[in-house]
Amino acid sequence: MKENVILIGFMGTGKTSLGKLLANKLGRGFVDVDQKIESTAKMSIPEIFETYGEKYFRELEKNAVKEICTRRNLVIATGGGTVKDKENFRLLKNSGVIVCLTTEPEEIFRRTERRGERPVLDGGNDRLETIKNLLAERQKFYAQADYTIDTTDWSPLQIMNKICEHFKL
Ligand code: S3P
Repeated sequence: MKENVILIGFMGTGKTSLGKLLANKLGRGFVDVDQKIESTAKMSIPEIFETYGEKYFRELEKNAVKEICTRRNLVIATGGGTVKDKENFRLLKNSGVIVCLTTEPEEIFRRTERRGERPVLDGGNDRLETIKNLLAERQKFYAQADYTIDTTDWSPLQIMNKICEHFKL
């Protein structure tokens, strides 16, 4: 299968680390949408949010998705909000199979504890509440994946094997 394998899901579900592992096992290139944005903008994501705001970040994200989706035989890790955009989802879907990683809000809270790293979580007073609200809002986008794995009780290796078995990779 030469189609891309695309990882979607909320922040802190392990898309980047699993993506690297999977790409390595399959002998494919690995592309991380957030990293592509950062290298194009020559700024970190928190800096982009701080200087230009979320709207501009989402434009950069759309450009990055457009470019990445012209390629095949990749493992792609998206950002947590990438698939909120219909066109982003359509382009990703047309380029391969979509895997959604999930975990509990409390686990996401633990994994994204440091302020500043994930600007979309920094607004409210109660970060766990913000996570729960965003998760509820985004559920319908994540639900469009071809395959969903709850990562809570599995090691990255086990998750990788499940994906490979499911898609016969
Ligand atoms: C975002 C998730 C981040 C990054 C940006 C916005 C979001 O990616 O794209 O901070 O809206 O959920 P990760 O899911 O890789 O942390």
